[in-house]
Amino acid sequence: MVRLHRDGSRRDTSRRHLAPSLGVHDIAIDLGTANTVVYVGGKGIVASEPSVVAADSFTGEVHAVGFEAERMIGRTPATISATRPLRHGVIADFGVTEQMLRYFIGRAFDRRWAHPRLIVCAPSGVTEVEKRAVEEAALAAGARRVHLIEEPIAAAIGAGIAIGEPVGRMVLDIGGGTSEVAVISMGGIVVSRSVRVGGYEMDEAISHYLRDAHQLAIGSQTAEAIKLQIGSAVPLAQELTMGVRGRHLLTGLPTEIQLNGAEVRQAIRAPMEEILRAIAETLEDTPPELAGDIAREGILLAGGGTLLRGLPELVTDRTGMAVTLAESPLTCVAIGSGQALEHFDQIPSGGARHATITSRRRSS
Ligand SMILES: Nc1ncnc2c1ncn2[C@@H]1O[C@H](COP(=O)(O)OP(=O)(O)OP(=O)(O)O)[C@@H](O)[C@H]1O
Ligand SMILES: [Mg+2]
Repeated sequence: MVRLHRDGSRRDTSRRHLAPSLGVHDIAIDLGTANTVVYVGGKGIVASEPSVVAADSFTGEVHAVGFEAERMIGRTPATISATRPLRHGVIADFGVTEQMLRYFIGRAFDRRWAHPRLIVCAPSGVTEVEKRAVEEAALAAGARRVHLIEEPIAAAIGAGIAIGEPVGRMVLDIGGGTSEVAVISMGGIVVSRSVRVGGYEMDEAISHYLRDAHQLAIGSQTAEAIKLQIGSAVPLAQELTMGVRGRHLLTGLPTEIQLNGAEVRQAIRAPMEEILRAIAETLEDTPPELAGDIAREGILLAGGGTLLRGLPELVTDRTGMAVTLAESPLTCVAIGSGQALEHFDQIPSGGARHATITSRRRSS
């Protein structure tokens, strides 16, 4: 088993990777439902953009990827579609994912012909078929070799936890399309839950609420903006409000309403509860020694969804556990995968015993 162990300070993560032994042709990619983050060995994070591709609906020709494509969502003519090729952390559209990976690998290197070794993150709950799809897409996009690493493991490494030790640590990662709770000890996952609920389900719940309570139709971008601007997991001392523009369902006219934070909290209650249930169930399944460790060490929070106002308080309130927010929740999975690059040659092919990492090689 590889000990992907990090013991230095929590700061200055990128500079720790300037070791000459580290191949500059190695890259780590956190291929997320919402965002893709690219880490180049010897450099650190070189790109962090939305996982969106805008392509011609008929020919498949790619018009834009990342930020540029995200701006087009809900605003494209019939001939172009701006889509997210991943859903709930897994590939929903293979061809588009391959194109996206090709773009991001290109962002990492100036030379078009680069065939890097790649570490890609996958949610812990994915099936063998889903894993295979990620590996195939990475190889098709030009990678020479590809290893998969489980997202909670990468998050823990990226947050500076010495995962190789026989101590139980719990990670909660709330992404765009998945939330994962995992207990890690000695470099492997002991128990975990992965639910197909994340930030997007919260956005969708906000859209539904506005339709039902205010007869207002809004797009997905507006729903996310509401969550970011006034959303919270617990009541705030000073409740926030904002004006929301959309189309009134009865009159069909553009309309603006005032929305307050309490309404948003009510709207996102169901997805929130599902995530909390996953934590409770994982704790129930945790062997006693490890549960004792977690009670002492607390829960590590990672993923963009954990940036929701009051979320750490809610988790503490409902579980009784202390929580720590990763220093950079949106990038710690990529940083952790980048750290794993240092061990690329020690990662056994065909999968580690703990199924923490699996490996494929380009056949040609
Ligand atoms: N300040 C914030 N408050 C609430 N939610 C936030 C905040 N910042 C980002 N998010 C949400 O975090 C989500 C994206 O997080 P992240 O980039 O970790 O997901 P991902 O890794 O792409 O997805 P997954 O891991 O599910 O495949 C989005 O739903 C976004 O709305
Ligand atoms: Mg993620």
